[in-house]
Amino acid sequence: MDINQRTYSSAKIVNLYASEPDLQKPEATILKILENDLYNKRMLDIGVGAGRTTAHFVNRVKEYVGVDYSEGMIKVCLERFKDTKNARFEVMDMTKGLKDLPDNSFDFVLISFNSIDHLTFDERTDVLKQVRRILTKDNPFCFSTHNINFIKYPPAFKFKDLFSPYSFVKTTYLNALSLKNRRKLRAENSTNIVVNDGAHTFGLNLMYVDLVEQVKNLEKAGFKDIRVFSETGPEITSQEALINSRDMSVYYLCN
Ligand SMILES: C[S@@+](CC[C@H](N)C(=O)[O-])C[C@H]1O[C@@H](n2cnc3c(N)ncnc32)[C@H](O)[C@@H]1O
Repeated sequence: MDINQRTYSSAKIVNLYASEPDLQKPEATILKILENDLYNKRMLDIGVGAGRTTAHFVNRVKEYVGVDYSEGMIKVCLERFKDTKNARFEVMDMTKGLKDLPDNSFDFVLISFNSIDHLTFDERTDVLKQVRRILTKDNPFCFSTHNINFIKYPPAFKFKDLFSPYSFVKTTYLNALSLKNRRKLRAENSTNIVVNDGAHTFGLNLMYVDLVEQVKNLEKAGFKDIRVFSETGPEITSQEALINSRDMSVYYLCN
């Protein structure tokens, strides 16, 4: 079990995810775009966690399957949605289990809250390929990923840092942390990087990617009509805005 899987197996982290009820802003934007077409879809929610997204999607789709490699997360989902007839949950490592699913077996695939960033670049490339294979033609794939620009530039000090000791200490700490990761990025000089960004008490190694390269990699995997949504909700509509985005993470929606 690697550091990421250990973190997501801990009862504390499972409970933390189980206590989060809301959709994130870009998820809400994307749900609005898709909602009229969801009723007849078989949905696969990969890295489902404790069912945060399940609660928002399960009653809108025909069939819902949630998978996660954390047994603790899946146990919570099974308990939470035991009376929901169209829902199924399975323990599955996406780097291994997706290849056993038949071609065209789902009409909507979601990998929310940067779950794909827990993989190596090769695993990620293969998962994108598998998703394209199991997803029926012209149907939506939605996922989020961390933005490499967030590592490139230190978090700016804000006006409120002058008046709030907590805020000042937090921004200083984030700057110190980002210095280490910026050095790593300079040394590796790549369009993607795996860093420990401090999340879950330094319990995760996460990939941050170049957002324009991600578009190209989606095209290589066979996806089209690629749209990107910022962490505050609205769509990022120009190449320039995508290149300059300082969001920590963004959502992609494609077919
Ligand atoms: C940040 S959490 C997001 C959980 C959920 N999607 C949400 O939005 O609340 C990342 C999730 O991805 C899962 N995960 C990470 N790597 C995985 C893998 N290789 N296969 C399956 N699940 C994985 C973790 O167990 C965890 O539940």
